[in-house]
Amino acid sequence: MKALVLSGGAGTRLRPITHTSAKQLVPVANKPVLFYGLEAIAEAGITEVGIIVGDTADEIREAVGDGSEFGIKVTYIPQEAPLGLAHAVLIARGFLADDDFVMYLGDNFIVGGITGLVDGFRAERPAAQILLTHVPNPTSFGVAELDAEGRVRSLEEKPERPQSDLALVGVYLFSPAIHEAVRSIKPSWRGELEITHAIQWLIDQQRDVHSTTISGYWKDTGNVVDMLEVNRSVLETIEPRIEGTVDEFSEIIGRVQIDAGAEVRGSRIVGPAIIGPRTVVADSYIGPFTSVSENCRIEDSEIEYSIVLRDSSITGVRRVEASLIGRSVEVTPAPRNPAAHRLVLGDHSKVQISS
Ligand code: DAU
Repeated sequence: MKALVLSGGAGTRLRPITHTSAKQLVPVANKPVLFYGLEAIAEAGITEVGIIVGDTADEIREAVGDGSEFGIKVTYIPQEAPLGLAHAVLIARGFLADDDFVMYLGDNFIVGGITGLVDGFRAERPAAQILLTHVPNPTSFGVAELDAEGRVRSLEEKPERPQSDLALVGVYLFSPAIHEAVRSIKPSWRGELEITHAIQWLIDQQRDVHSTTISGYWKDTGNVVDMLEVNRSVLETIEPRIEGTVDEFSEIIGRVQIDAGAEVRGSRIVGPAIIGPRTVVADSYIGPFTSVSENCRIEDSEIEYSIVLRDSSITGVRRVEASLIGRSVEVTPAPRNPAAHRLVLGDHSKVQISS
């Protein structure tokens, strides 16, 4: 079994913070979301991985390399434009050959990995297996309609009037039957060869399409609230580890990871939290569910339930909460206007001044 990971795209759909143009490299608990996918693939025992790359190919190659750090062997497959998920399968035909494969969208995050799914697919070998999850906004996804027995009846891409709230999650398992399907479909109204249409084609040909409904799913949508939430849930699972230095005036409580080269002085860190490599935390409080990336400086400040990306500094600020701070950002207190009240008060006045 092989894996096809989709990390292409035009790099134009930028998030509120434009820290990188590859959305697959958005960090969750200081690690690019794509890495969780690659780790899940390796954990499922798959070692041959094709990665589809587009405009942001250089960034992806730099981050992933040859895959050896993940225990996989990566083949990069350039896609000239984001012409659709089914187009990615079409151009990966040579790499995939006649093997079964898992297709994994690089901007998707699945809690709990994919080992159980892959094992189930290997045992049953349907033509395709899809993953579904209940979402509040089905119009932003591919949507599945199931029959009374729970079989997939139909699929629709970003429907205006969804038949259910069951969205397609970005992990698909395919037998080689998918190759005929992707060759048989036409581009959609948005000009893409949709994988949803290819799977619908399999259903129309009476081929076996299985579905599994999961919870614990996140996709990079650029929504800060969701991003803080997925960061929180991953931080809850980290193993405490102190590789940097912590002085005797500091207190570290709970699940805290302090990476090599990081320095904590006169501070209190309450986990779960991560302090990235070469980051300095001095005379500060870092509260639960906070990820501070590499090379940052948090001084005389308080921060909690937040994400700070690399090379940023926060000095003399209390308190920062539920915030997403990009790369090379400086946060400082606003200069105070000299506070003075000039008063001319008549006899027997009573004045209340809030200061
Ligand atoms: O995330 C789940 C959704 O992914 C499904 O519910 C939809 O049915 C499916 O069509 C897809 O929808 P999106 O429109 O949100 O996909 P997006 O364009 O964000 O692409 C998903 C990933 O695949 C992303 O990492 C970029 C990459 N990609 C995308 C296209 C269109 C490629 O590598 N090549 C492509 O041609």
